[in-house]
Amino acid sequence: MTLEFDHVNCIYDAETNQPVKALSDVSLTIGGGEFIGLIGHTGSGKSTLMQHANGLLKPTGGRILADGTDIWSRDYDRRSLRARVGLVFQYPEHQLFETDVLTDVCFGPKNLGKSAKDAEALAKEALEQVGIDKSQFALSPFELSGGQKRRVAIAGVLSMQPEILILDEPTAGLDPRGRKEILSLVKRLHREKGITVVLVSHSMEDVARFADRILVMDHGALLLNESPASIFSRRETLQQIGLNIPETLLLLDELRRAGLGTDDPAMPLTPEDTAEVILSWLQ
Ligand SMILES: Nc1ncnc2c1ncn2[C@@H]1O[C@H](COP(=O)(O)OP(=O)(O)OP(=O)(O)O)[C@@H](O)[C@H]1O
Ligand SMILES: [Mg+2]
Repeated sequence: MTLEFDHVNCIYDAETNQPVKALSDVSLTIGGGEFIGLIGHTGSGKSTLMQHANGLLKPTGGRILADGTDIWSRDYDRRSLRARVGLVFQYPEHQLFETDVLTDVCFGPKNLGKSAKDAEALAKEALEQVGIDKSQFALSPFELSGGQKRRVAIAGVLSMQPEILILDEPTAGLDPRGRKEILSLVKRLHREKGITVVLVSHSMEDVARFADRILVMDHGALLLNESPASIFSRRETLQQIGLNIPETLLLLDELRRAGLGTDDPAMPLTPEDTAEVILSWLQ
């Protein structure tokens, strides 16, 4: 499915004397099996934008179209939209509430009207996909480690078989190993299931490796919507809005400043690719 944001605005607390303009005139399209990275500094509107994608929030201006239909039109089935556009919240605790892991993951499919048996089959499949072992099915979700909670929250969304999977900062608060594991899980889900993925992050490094396209938010506006290579060629713009560019590119900049290498537009993102570029300079 394709989701289109058409000049979307969001004002929180609009009726009070302290309204907050969280989204200004955002237009973009999500879909087509792409892996999309969404980055921006804290408070730039990333979570707000993604909560509009599945109809949790209603825009105060503009429209959101799912395959061409306005999701806020009178007869639109927003409940099934919430299943088709799966959103894993920034704080997994906000999404986990049942007494045990399996029941928790069954909740989504049951809510969609599946029988208890079908819901359980979907839940088990989703838990397997995220690497949660049977021995953990009966545990309380709140007894799990941070990384496992994230996995269960992801399974809770996958069990509804979404066409678009949105993960809001899925690596926040995890140690480097936990981060790596969650990112490879997301990458695998994208590859194996062919679903559109939106990965929200503060970190360029995290999104740079996987994204086909990167969206950059700044103060509620969509500042950039381009390929990673094109985004990284705008270092000054990124630095002005407080975003770091991948360390590998900064390293090459330093080496160039020291007189090594060429001005070729190489944009390696992994240590391995960076080593290759440096070795080619030395030949
Ligand atoms: N429920 C709310 N009520 C009022 N203002 C809100 C609410 N949620 C977010 N905001 C404000 O809207 C703006 C955008 O917030 P949002 O959470 O979407 O940003 P974000 O990019 O996801 O930030 P972070 O990186 O910290 O998660 C901020 O100014 C924030 O304070
Ligand atoms: Mg957020």
